[in-house]
Amino acid sequence: MEEDTRELSSQKNVNKAKQVAYVLSSVGKLIYNTKPKYFVVVFLVNVLSGLLVLPSLYIQKQIIDSLVMYVGLDSFVMSDALWNLSILIVFSIGLIFVTHMINQVSSFFETLLVREFDTKLDILMAKKLASLDIETIESPRFKNRYTKITNESASRVYRLISPLSSIPGEVVALGSSIAILATLTPIAAIGVILSSIPRLTVASRFVKRRYEMVGQLAPIRRVQGWLNWYLLRNRNMMELKLLGLPEYLAHRYSQNASVILKTHQKFDFDQERATSISFLPLSLFDAAFTIYLAWQTLGKAISIGSFQLYYQAMRRVQSEFYNVSRSLISIYESYIYVADLMWLLALKPKISEVSGLSFETVGKIRIEFKNVWFKYKKTGKYILKGVSLVFETGRPVAIVGVNGAGKSTLLKLLARFYDPIKGEILVNGTPLNQINPESWRRQLAILFQDFEGYPFSAKETIAFGDLSRLSEIDDVKAAAKATDIASFVEKLPKKWENPLDPEFAKGVRPSAGQWQRLGISRMLFRSNAQVVVMDEPTSNVDPEAEEQIFAKLAELSGSKILVFVTQRFSTVRRAKQIVLIEGGKVLESGTHSALMKKKSRYHHLFDLQAKSYNFDHEKSS
Ligand SMILES: Nc1ncnc2c1ncn2[C@@H]1O[C@H](COP(=O)(O)OP(=O)(O)OP(=O)(O)O)[C@@H](O)[C@H]1O
Ligand SMILES: [Mg+2]
Repeated sequence: MEEDTRELSSQKNVNKAKQVAYVLSSVGKLIYNTKPKYFVVVFLVNVLSGLLVLPSLYIQKQIIDSLVMYVGLDSFVMSDALWNLSILIVFSIGLIFVTHMINQVSSFFETLLVREFDTKLDILMAKKLASLDIETIESPRFKNRYTKITNESASRVYRLISPLSSIPGEVVALGSSIAILATLTPIAAIGVILSSIPRLTVASRFVKRRYEMVGQLAPIRRVQGWLNWYLLRNRNMMELKLLGLPEYLAHRYSQNASVILKTHQKFDFDQERATSISFLPLSLFDAAFTIYLAWQTLGKAISIGSFQLYYQAMRRVQSEFYNVSRSLISIYESYIYVADLMWLLALKPKISEVSGLSFETVGKIRIEFKNVWFKYKKTGKYILKGVSLVFETGRPVAIVGVNGAGKSTLLKLLARFYDPIKGEILVNGTPLNQINPESWRRQLAILFQDFEGYPFSAKETIAFGDLSRLSEIDDVKAAAKATDIASFVEKLPKKWENPLDPEFAKGVRPSAGQWQRLGISRMLFRSNAQVVVMDEPTSNVDPEAEEQIFAKLAELSGSKILVFVTQRFSTVRRAKQIVLIEGGKVLESGTHSALMKKKSRYHHLFDLQAKSYNFDHEKSS
């Protein structure tokens, strides 16, 4: 990730314009490819709308000139005059009508395009995120930029589509209006543009200032985001109520809000003041030009209709010049934000999901950690300090160790979400980093300590274990029976289709232990996987169910690799091999009886738990 960022920032220094062009053309292509037809329609329709400016101004001139000519005519030619005028008026109104229609069509297709693009972008971003290294996703620098993208870029993209599609029409309209003015005097055309420049300068200056302001307010806004989440999104209200936090958090929220409001107020005030002043040259030119037109008209150099034509043309040049520039500015403004989005879409993972040797099982699997060293952050402390151990088909392993010892970290390396810094992990003798991660992960059924509870339906929450067998309801039921969660599901109003969140109709919230059973069932359903790993799977499960679950796991262990992490020494005893991790190393390893004989650390930890059980037992008896 760092390399990509560096690449982008050096590009920035070398050639800013090139980078702007690159980002705009990339996003332009993305938008175009979303729905080329819509894009073309919007583009053409806008050009057409620009083209209609010329005839409509001209007809208005004709109407006024005809009026002047026909005023006071004899009554017998009146009907002819009225007829001629009516035709012009119908034309003029017709043009207005057509322009309205065209604008409707344009905005209709623009809305469709924006909607399609929005969905496409969500999917693109989701896929990209899933392809990136966990290390990247966890880094604060990535988080910062990603938050900005999700908050800002999406809406900026709409703002990009709109000016991109309106520019062609605005340019045509501007060109036609300049052409009209130039027939009177080129000086007029130049004058309008020159007098419009202050207004533009002000507009563009405030775009930059707004970006700076957004950046400056970003940290405080992130805090606001969290506060808002706790206060307004109904997140774990029970604890908030218990601690009386809402009042306190609301106070913090309103303090932050007042800082944000004040900053915005000052910005808006400055902007309004500068904008009002910037209108002055324009108004002065306006007055001078209109007086000039009046003088020309009085001197009969131009007709009254032409007075109207030139006056309208001048107005039009003013507004279209402003529109074109405003569109360009807003494209640039969007660019600043969209660049972040393009940066995300261009990121490449270090651990590629698709490269490497495809892993196929041929009977037994042997995973060997050889002197593995690992730390999460380059600057951080080592979490694993030379771990060596072996997992083999048919030999269940229990991993024990105090909180923070590195047990879960070990499993994340096994799943290749991270690579070791030193040492290596071998699978049947092949280094894991030469194996295609996707094919490797197909062999893994890992229930992580912070596993997911999918709320959609009870059936899906289990069947997600193997997407290729989503509809195998009998297998889902069998997996649910193994953890004794089937009876709970069968009693739900919608049974296997029941949502697992009260947010949905008839939805329920499973208890912590019920969730764990659903999670274990999900991994049991993943029956094609040859490596079954459970990180504290039964910490919330009652002892009776735990017995049953471990009996089920034991059935599997003959043909698979089975690894479980647990704090309960009563279950640890079952494993053929126990590995005690401490201080990032394998401190002790062996069978329960061998480790007990050693009378060392394992013995001590086991004794502690056994004593507390005995103590409770004695007390109650
Ligand atoms: N993503 C991460 N980034 C930085 N540090 C991490 C990350 N995950 C874990 N750690 C750190 O690594 C150390 C080991 O964590 P790990 O989760 O492997 O411990 P554990 O043995 O599974 O503990 P527990 O028994 O509490 O589950 C801890 O000090 C933890 O703070
Ligand atoms: Mg853990």
